[in-house]
Amino acid sequence: MTDLLAAADAAAAHAYAPYSGFRVGAAVRTRDGRVFTGCNVENAAYPLGSCAERTAISRAVAEGGCRPGDLEAIAITASPCGGCRQWLAEFRIDRVSYRREDGSVASSTPAELLPDTFRL
Ligand code: THU
Repeated sequence: MTDLLAAADAAAAHAYAPYSGFRVGAAVRTRDGRVFTGCNVENAAYPLGSCAERTAISRAVAEGGCRPGDLEAIAITASPCGGCRQWLAEFRIDRVSYRREDGSVASSTPAELLPDTFRL
């Protein structure tokens, strides 16, 4: 997992975060070993910005053809926001690692991060 967090750190360097100044990176690993990275991309219309996790998962879908169940792990340089927790649940990622504010690394499942999700 440290390699995946290192990839997330590298991705954070590409963040476009002129409004918050809060740079976030994420890296997902597929079951067949591919890695897709992402960073946050902000916008002057604030709600239109994209989180790092969503960028990484979107790349796995758009570039790698991934679907829910195909992603084994994700590492994030910060604690995932509520909306991203819903994305992590949607894609059924086995293991979510993220760096806490104190620098320690937490490891969770999507269900631990967002219990009792609804089903359509
Ligand atoms: N951010 C992420 O990229 N991921 C998260 O889960 C937490 C928040 C970004 C969004 C915004 O660009 C900045 O951090 C401040 O909220």
